[in-house]
Amino acid sequence: MNYARIVGTGSYLPEKVVSNADLEQMIETTADWIIERTGVEERHVAAPGETTADMAEQAARRALEAAGLEPGDIDMIVLGTTTPDHVFPSVATVLQHRLGCYGGPAFDVQAVCTGFVYALDIANRFIRTGAARRVLVVGADTFTRIIDWTDRGTCILFGDGAGAVILEQTDQPGIIDSRLGADGRYKELLWVPAGVSSGYDRTRENAAFVEMRGSEVFKVAVTTLKDIAEQILSANQMTVADVDWMIPHQANRRILTATAKRLGLPMERMIDCVRTHANTSAASVPLALDVAVRDGRIQRGDTLLLEGFGGGFTWGAALLKY
Ligand code: UT7
Repeated sequence: MNYARIVGTGSYLPEKVVSNADLEQMIETTADWIIERTGVEERHVAAPGETTADMAEQAARRALEAAGLEPGDIDMIVLGTTTPDHVFPSVATVLQHRLGCYGGPAFDVQAVCTGFVYALDIANRFIRTGAARRVLVVGADTFTRIIDWTDRGTCILFGDGAGAVILEQTDQPGIIDSRLGADGRYKELLWVPAGVSSGYDRTRENAAFVEMRGSEVFKVAVTTLKDIAEQILSANQMTVADVDWMIPHQANRRILTATAKRLGLPMERMIDCVRTHANTSAASVPLALDVAVRDGRIQRGDTLLLEGFGGGFTWGAALLKY
């Protein structure tokens, strides 16, 4: 039987850091309010001209190095992003060209903050069917480019970054199970009400920026993250006690603690990078994974539960042996 196993992880954060003290100078807020309501202390922001593909390339090269592989060993690229460099071609094909590994399929997946978990699920299915052997899976977003820096309800939460994993075909898990979902009825709770085919409404202020009804998003996020964890665990005859590390989308510390509490999972077994990463959209899960692999918390053989939640709404979970 074919399984897909993570053989290398990598990530990248832009150099520039914007602290809560910096935000105090820009909007009517306090560092204490931001910490208390979100857990975020600072966020990384891409330099002028630095793009999603630039960040994805750094993360991908680090994942390849960790796996001991060359770009030519990769036969497919799946990349989650909502902030591509171009309307087209995809960031995945730009990345393929940067790495110089031509010929295999390369495409972007748009599931907002669930982008990486969607990409991972797709890559897993290609490997399980034998259609691919080694897949580069990336989550990368320059989300701060679609943030209105005068909107204190959103600009405090987001940052930029990229994370990547290399998935390889093996005969032992690897990814045990992965599941995706979406509910388009929630569109207007978290969205950018502008786009290529609908046009940019130049008469309306901030029409190309993220709009969010934060407290409503919060409630659905907590319920969904709990429900999908329970569903994927029970479908595999497992419980929270079997999970060594949970790596949820790094949306907000309060969402993480509320989810952990509802699941009965000690916070000590949840990877939490909210303080220094903020919400990096599709990059958040692979970034947190890479941090915990490199600092030695996550060890080979550990059971991991990855979870995404984002605009749409979209959601997804992956249960795997690292
Ligand atoms: O991938 C999913 C991405 N989205 C999320 O994760 C969003 C989830 N939601 C949240 O993180 C929270 O809802 C926020 C952090 C965005 C807001 O926290 P909240 O506790 O839900 O606050 P609220 O929206 O209910 O607002 C409470 C008050 C309001 O003032 P009034 O109406 O009570 O006078 C806001 O105007 O807090 C005010 N407020 C702020 N005050 C200081 C909102 N933003 C700020 C701010 N600084 N930055």
